[in-house]
Amino acid sequence: MAPLDKRFDVNIAGEINLDLILYGLPANIPLEREILATDFRLTLGGSSAIVAHNLATLGARVGFTTRLGKDELGRIALEHLAESGTDLSQIVYATDATSTGVTILLHHGAQRRILTYPGTMSGMSRADLNFEYLASAKHFHLSSLFLQQALAPDLPALFRDLKHAGLTISLDTNDDPEDRWDGVLQELLEYVDVLLPNADEACRIARRDTVEDALHTLSSRVPCIAAKCGARGALVQIGDRLHRIPPLKIDPVDTIGAGDSFDAGFLCGYVRGTNTLECAVAGNITGALSTLRPGGTEAFRDAELRESFLREHHFPFLDCW
Ligand SMILES: Nc1ncnc2c1ncn2[C@@H]1O[C@H](COP(=O)(O)OP(=O)(O)O)[C@@H](O)[C@H]1O
Ligand SMILES: [Mg+2]
Repeated sequence: MAPLDKRFDVNIAGEINLDLILYGLPANIPLEREILATDFRLTLGGSSAIVAHNLATLGARVGFTTRLGKDELGRIALEHLAESGTDLSQIVYATDATSTGVTILLHHGAQRRILTYPGTMSGMSRADLNFEYLASAKHFHLSSLFLQQALAPDLPALFRDLKHAGLTISLDTNDDPEDRWDGVLQELLEYVDVLLPNADEACRIARRDTVEDALHTLSSRVPCIAAKCGARGALVQIGDRLHRIPPLKIDPVDTIGAGDSFDAGFLCGYVRGTNTLECAVAGNITGALSTLRPGGTEAFRDAELRESFLREHHFPFLDCW
């Protein structure tokens, strides 16, 4: 099938949940006391869902597959994602009583605690995926590798089959809660066109101390690695060459989902065949946009903020779908 005939620009299979965000908590939380937060937000969470949501609000045609519990948390999360225009025709529901996952984020000034109950998100298996549907996109993106416990053993074969079907593939592992960085990861790298770790994850994946060393090591396995470096912007390794992509100057409210938002901006360009350095420039803009509102999707839900910020910073893929 020619790329132009594809139904979707990007297909994503992964987790969706709600983020419950509490602000202004002390770093030391005593047991058996009631501690008051200064603010609270309920936002769409799950790296995979945040990428899908933000990519769709940027104009891409996005398909999303996930496994949900039949509960209020899942219903609300899905409603938020549906508003972005993401196609949700392939959602499957757990047949047992497992509930949809949830993440509770506790903000202590600049630092935070992230507590996640994976719920149905770790139970999605290849049997829940419709291959024809996944293959009807130009590109497949996988986030949060280490949360996809049931799917993991089948991922190398899935990636291989998607490559054979002509798709390009990106992977953002996110953190490994067990800090082992093994399993199918090394096998998957063989099929990955773009790896999208943050600087710390790149070091752990490559087992190197500096991000520069890590990217150099990974460059023998993956054609393009875009490493997200928070307030320092991004690094892009293509073959032997390392490129620094400077950050935007902004005043962040919170950085939840900034990495996922970077992925969304980057992929906007990647699916159009744009030079990967320009994709990373776009990623820096959408990563920065995400930090202006709580959670990973609020800044993208606010169409006025989104459009004016993207115009002000010359987002390269505005009005071009
Ligand atoms: N303080 C900041 N100033 C400017 N850009 C930022 C800032 N924090 C995050 N970003 C943007 O968001 C991207 C992702 O943030 P980062 O925290 O590195 O990823 P992750 O959320 O995966 O840990 C960065 O590469 C950058 O483009
Ligand atoms: Mg991340």
